[in-house]
Amino acid sequence: MSRPPADPTRMRLLAISDLHLSSPSNFAALAALPAAPDDWLILAGDVAEHPDKVRQAFEMLSARFARLIWVPGNHELWTVSAGGGGEAKYRLLVDLARECGVLTPEDPYPLWPGPGGPCVLVPMFLLYDYSFRPAHVALEDVLDWAREERAVCADEMLLSPAPFASRIAWCHARCALTQARLEALDPSVETILINHYPLRADLVRIPRIPRFTPWCGTTLTEDWHRRYRARAVVSGHLHVRRTDWRDGVRFEEVSLGYPRQWDPQRGIAPYLREILPGPSD
Ligand SMILES: [Fe+2]
Ligand SMILES: [Fe+2]
Repeated sequence: MSRPPADPTRMRLLAISDLHLSSPSNFAALAALPAAPDDWLILAGDVAEHPDKVRQAFEMLSARFARLIWVPGNHELWTVSAGGGGEAKYRLLVDLARECGVLTPEDPYPLWPGPGGPCVLVPMFLLYDYSFRPAHVALEDVLDWAREERAVCADEMLLSPAPFASRIAWCHARCALTQARLEALDPSVETILINHYPLRADLVRIPRIPRFTPWCGTTLTEDWHRRYRARAVVSGHLHVRRTDWRDGVRFEEVSLGYPRQWDPQRGIAPYLREILPGPSD
């Protein structure tokens, strides 16, 4: 688990998502990432599909950072030969993370002890419910609408919601239990909200595949940054690295992405986004 830092004033909270380690070049680049033993690292989902690959990432990175925090992306939850699917696969990955000393959305929320704190770090697993679709598209039409531009997410084939009846039902259950935990936090302390999916529809800008929006989050979380005192919100999934501001809150999209979406010449280190202490403004 966490090691005491050599110098607490130099600790950083870093974040990256969408490592997609099934790509050999992404895996090789991660293997070459230098250690930063004072820093904490957030992995905001889409590490890999196979549990063995996720374990390799956890083992490599937990040796190089003081603490790792992981939330699942859709790719981790895909049904592949190992690990089944649905909630059972999520639980398998939570167990795997714990074996490696990695914090998950099922663990007590840690307090950030370094510069920029105190802040409660809130890893969340919320999924999506198709509510980011445009207003003129009915829910029952959303697949046909996306299919017209070949934008249907592979989750429709690969992400089982079992034992829930649908991914919508799973999403709403996850939002309800997460919200109950957020409501129970000390109201005097700020938070860092961490989720694979963006919390607001107006942060989804994916011009290459505009009809992918239904698989990108839920409008249930639209105001969570205000309700739950977020200092910053960390997400991935879009593979479009950005920093946005809403209501004075910093929203960080921290994807690495597939090999064509980043510059391997630079290595992965420059893609680690500093969340805390963060930019001085
Ligand atoms: Fe991804
Ligand atoms: Fe994703």
